[in-house]
Amino acid sequence: MKFHKANCLKGTVTVPGDKSISHRAVMFGALSEGKTEITNFLQGADCLSTICCFRQLGIEIENRNSTITIHGKGLDGLSSPSSTLDTGNSGTTTRLLSGILAGQSFTAVLTGDASIQKRPMKRIMEPLSMMGAHIESINGNGCAPLKISGASLKGIHYHSQVASAQVKSAILLAGLYAEGATSVTEPVLSRNHSEIMLRTFGASLLSNGTTATIHPRPRLAGQKIVVPGDISSAAYFIAAALLVPGSDVLIRNVGVNPTRSGILEVAKAMGGNISLLNENTDGEPTADLHVTYSPLHGTKIAGDIIPTLIDELPVIAVMAAAADGTTIIKDAAELKVKESNRIDVMVQNLSAMGCSIQGTEDGMIIEGKNPSLQPLTGAMIDAHGDHRIAMSFAVAALIAEGETDIIDSECVSISYPGFYSDLQHLSG
Ligand code: S3P
Repeated sequence: MKFHKANCLKGTVTVPGDKSISHRAVMFGALSEGKTEITNFLQGADCLSTICCFRQLGIEIENRNSTITIHGKGLDGLSSPSSTLDTGNSGTTTRLLSGILAGQSFTAVLTGDASIQKRPMKRIMEPLSMMGAHIESINGNGCAPLKISGASLKGIHYHSQVASAQVKSAILLAGLYAEGATSVTEPVLSRNHSEIMLRTFGASLLSNGTTATIHPRPRLAGQKIVVPGDISSAAYFIAAALLVPGSDVLIRNVGVNPTRSGILEVAKAMGGNISLLNENTDGEPTADLHVTYSPLHGTKIAGDIIPTLIDELPVIAVMAAAADGTTIIKDAAELKVKESNRIDVMVQNLSAMGCSIQGTEDGMIIEGKNPSLQPLTGAMIDAHGDHRIAMSFAVAALIAEGETDIIDSECVSISYPGFYSDLQHLSG
């Protein structure tokens, strides 16, 4: 798909529901007794993969006009699937579902697309095995396909090497089925949607700093869940509005949970003009974001903030490419094991646009090109099938001289099927 420089972005946009929260609402609804109703559910391919898997596990799920109804059957209500569970491109589905399957009384095989089959699963296989699960990487490479045979589990206290909400959640979900309490301590707090929502459904779960502890066999009850807008999707409009001169954009109803909202801090540190309006702090906090064009300068992004903006680093790198001065991103080695190797892919594509960028072991060093002196140039971009790369370069194209052609641009359907039309609506 081809993209060109924009004059300015103006208007209001409502981004679709949060991907992480949509996945969890389906999973926890399936494990609860009674009906769960989810509104503003993200109809992206990843969350639809989660729905498919739970239907294969015997749960009746209705999907009408972005409202999902789950007919939950309780903790012991899943049934043995008759075929391999297909998690598509979704790491969240693969890892969280593995935690749930570890505590069942049947065997299941799960796998996904080519990207999923390269992503590391030892990070969940190790703790789940310590709990007593039988979990095997069928090709012996520590990746999916995974064969999981339910077993009786025992609670552990796991000290995770990575700050990963997927790892933490997989262990806590297995902990629902274990004997005794299960705790996870992470090096830095990762997104805490599982903890918040499991408590809403009735789990006994305590959070203390970077440790979460769950007690087994709660009686989970169906809920009404309203999914806030996804800040990871809002990130592209935040960046676009900051970068394109004359822009003035209002992004409605965005989830601003502090474990997710690092991009707001970084954008402000780079000189970005963003204000939060209509803040609502019941449950998952939300706000409208008002963003206007701002000349940006380079910054350093490292340490505890990284997990709060891990999925936004590709578009933050685009912001850095058009900022005055150098931006250093450190402590983000996790970027290498996302839907693509996001360090390599950002280096390849930003270099193609004329940016001076160096990949490091755990991040990137980007020499910003002040766009009024030396703009980026349009180029052929390979998104490597990674939705966040495609959306980041659709933003870069708005400030580049000449044409940008994104190969694989349709992969945005993983998390934001209407992205291009929403972007076009704002840029006229
Ligand atoms: C997610 C957690 C993050 C994030 C992913 C969604 C989740 O991954 O990158 O897009 O829903 O739990 P890790 O937990 O592996 O860091």
